[in-house]
Amino acid sequence: MSESKRTVVITGGSKGIGRAICLRFAREGARIIFMHYDPDDLAANETLGLLDKVNVETKAEKLDVSSFSAVEEFFKQVVKDFQRVDVLVNNAGITRDAFLMRMSEDQWDQTLQVNLKSVFNCTKAVMRSMIKERSGRIISISSVVGQIGNIGQSNYAASKAGIMGFTKTVARELAGRGITVNVVVPGFINTEMTQRLPVKAKEAFLAQIPMGRIGEPDEIAETVYWLASEGASYITGQVIHVNGGLYM
Ligand SMILES: NC(=O)c1ccc[n+]([C@@H]2O[C@H](COP(=O)([O-])OP(=O)(O)OC[C@H]3O[C@@H](n4cnc5c(N)ncnc54)[C@H](O)[C@@H]3O)[C@@H](O)[C@H]2O)c1
Repeated sequence: MSESKRTVVITGGSKGIGRAICLRFAREGARIIFMHYDPDDLAANETLGLLDKVNVETKAEKLDVSSFSAVEEFFKQVVKDFQRVDVLVNNAGITRDAFLMRMSEDQWDQTLQVNLKSVFNCTKAVMRSMIKERSGRIISISSVVGQIGNIGQSNYAASKAGIMGFTKTVARELAGRGITVNVVVPGFINTEMTQRLPVKAKEAFLAQIPMGRIGEPDEIAETVYWLASEGASYITGQVIHVNGGLYM
């Protein structure tokens, strides 16, 4: 698998962990296609600027990954344009936090749609072409919260735990087709998502991390990249934690 021939699709690539994943694959010369759904294109353009410096072929699209039909159309076009997708990284995610007592139906639905249904949408849209090629890597980004829970995040925890069950099942279904399906589970990572947290919540998280520091997006990107490499050819259906020891 020569990197220069790989086409890598990353959801939520405009910033944070998604941007780091785009840049990690770009360093090896892969073609980078990412989606985002920010209100404006500022962050996406910044990512495109960084990718431009590495001089790889790129495509970025503002697209709501929770829409089944939009995702289906998008992947049809990608396969038409580039023949195949070698790696799919399901990274897009949101939080809509509230205590269950106060959580609205909308907060529940939005979080499940963006974090979990998107994984179904993109995986389903890409699998036919991967099956045809008898090769492919699908990596989804869950969260430690999906494993241990977190007050105010019952919707987020459910969506992220759902990704793990989905992955283990699809890994079994696709194992004979040359496709591996895995989950990377970040702990507490330095991005806009966590910068928004109240200081007290951040301190509480930090106190529980044996390595005593927050993780960096690059540290997640490196694990995703490795799972998509030849070195990880016999790994499927696995849940890989990258969290400084926060959960063991
Ligand atoms: N930051 C952390 O500490 C942390 C910890 C565990 C898991 N995660 C997970 O890692 C992933 C990335 O998190 P981040 O911190 O980089 O977040 P971020 O808020 O910095 O970026 C989120 C990305 O998702 C995209 N996105 C949001 N809704 C979308 C939609 N409907 N359609 C398409 N794209 C959409 C945004 O445009 C953006 O590109 C998420 O799935 C998140 O749940 C993050």
